[in-house]
Formats: sequence, C-alpha cells, structure tokens
Amino acid sequence: MEFAEAKKGKEYRIRNARLTDVDQIIKINRLALPENYPYYFFVEHLKEYEAAFFVAESDDEVVGYIMPRIEWGFSNLKQLPTLVKKGHVVSIAVLEQYRRLGIGTALLQASMKAMKEVYNAEEVYLEVRVSNLPAINLYRKLGFKEVKVLRHYYADGEDAYLMAAPL
Ligand SMILES: CC(C)(COP(=O)(O)OP(=O)(O)OC[C@H]1O[C@@H](n2cnc3c(N)ncnc32)[C@H](O)[C@@H]1OP(=O)(O)O)[C@@H](O)C(=O)NCCC(=O)NCCS
Repeated sequence: MEFAEAKKGKEYRIRNARLTDVDQIIKINRLALPENYPYYFFVEHLKEYEAAFFVAESDDEVVGYIMPRIEWGFSNLKQLPTLVKKGHVVSIAVLEQYRRLGIGTALLQASMKAMKEVYNAEEVYLEVRVSNLPAINLYRKLGFKEVKVLRHYYADGEDAYLMAAPL
C-alpha cells in the first residue's frame, strides 16, 4: 500500500518496509526511544509481519516506522475472557524534524488496516509511558482507550498504559 500526503509543505509517502530499511529504522528507534532492540529483532518482525510493517519516506529518506506483531491472546476489550487475534504495536517513531505532520497517524492507520484486512486481527493494543502525552493523544485520536496501568513496566520504573482499540 502506498499513498502520498503533504502538510506544512513537507511531502511524505507511506509504504511497506523492506529489509534495506532496517539500518535507518534502527537509527530512528535509537534517536526517538529508550526501548531499543537488536538488528535481528527488527528483521524477524519484518519477515513475519511484513504486510503491517510500514515506513514513511520523505526527501528520499525513511523518517518514521511502525513495527507490529500479530498474537493470539485474551481480548483487552471484551468483558468475558475471550481468545482473539490481536495486532500489537511493538514500536512506532518519527524523526523529530518530521513530527506533527500527520506521519504517526498515517503509519498507525496503515498498520491497523493491514492487521485487520491481511491478518484478520479483531483488535489492536500497545504499551505507552504514562508521561508520553504526544503518543497517548495520537492513540486516543485513532480510537484507543487506556485499558489498564502496567506498574513499573519500563526498565527505569515508569508505569505504562495498556491501550487498545477495536479493528
Ligand atoms: C508519537 C509520535 C510517533 C507521533 O508522531 P507524529 O507524526 O508527530 O504524529 P501526528 O503528526 O500524526 O500527530 C497526531 C496527533 O497526535 C497528537 N500529538 C502529536 N504530537 C504531539 C505533541 N507534541 N503534543 C501533544 N499532542 C501531540 C496530536 O493530537 C496530533 O494531532 P494534531 O497534530 O492534529 O493535533 C512521535 O511524537 C514520536 O516519534 N515520538 C517519539 C517516539 C514515541 O514516543 N513513540 C511512541 C512510543 S509508545
């Protein structure tokens, strides 16, 4: 899937990630987030869940990514314990100079569409630092709700919200 968008004069394109993007994805991940992963982790996710793994390109450079996973597990949304197929947003980030252009929204929308249409996932969830308001706002805008607090989820002791949305 590919589409082009322009906001505030900056054009960008959302497309499926390729193996040749992994070095730049790792660079963005390390610049943007304290949660970092080894090279093979990105490659495994790309190979396994390629259809829902997207990058944003601008000025011929990858400037953002979303790395997903598909899992079976208990629903985060239904009242009774029910096993469902769920999309899991493992990591999402946009280079600082490209933020607030709609890229995070476009990446998440593209991945959620693929989670539903390609992998038949019924819902999507993620963890986010309770202090990460930009990300929490983005997720709320796309229909996510805070489902529970995961105490001391991060290595530095900060709590996470588990947020989930129906697909
Ligand atoms: C979270 C992140 C991916 C958002 O990417 P983005 O491309 O800037 O997001 P968008 O431009 O699509 O913004 C969508 C909405 O999110 C909210 N938002 C984004 N940045 C915000 C900020 N700095 N403050 C408050 N709300 C913000 C707004 O509601 C925004 O809509 P608006 O611009 O119409 O007001 C980006 O800030 C980022 O890479 N952060 C560092 C990595 C990170 O925290 N990842 C999430 C880990 S769980």
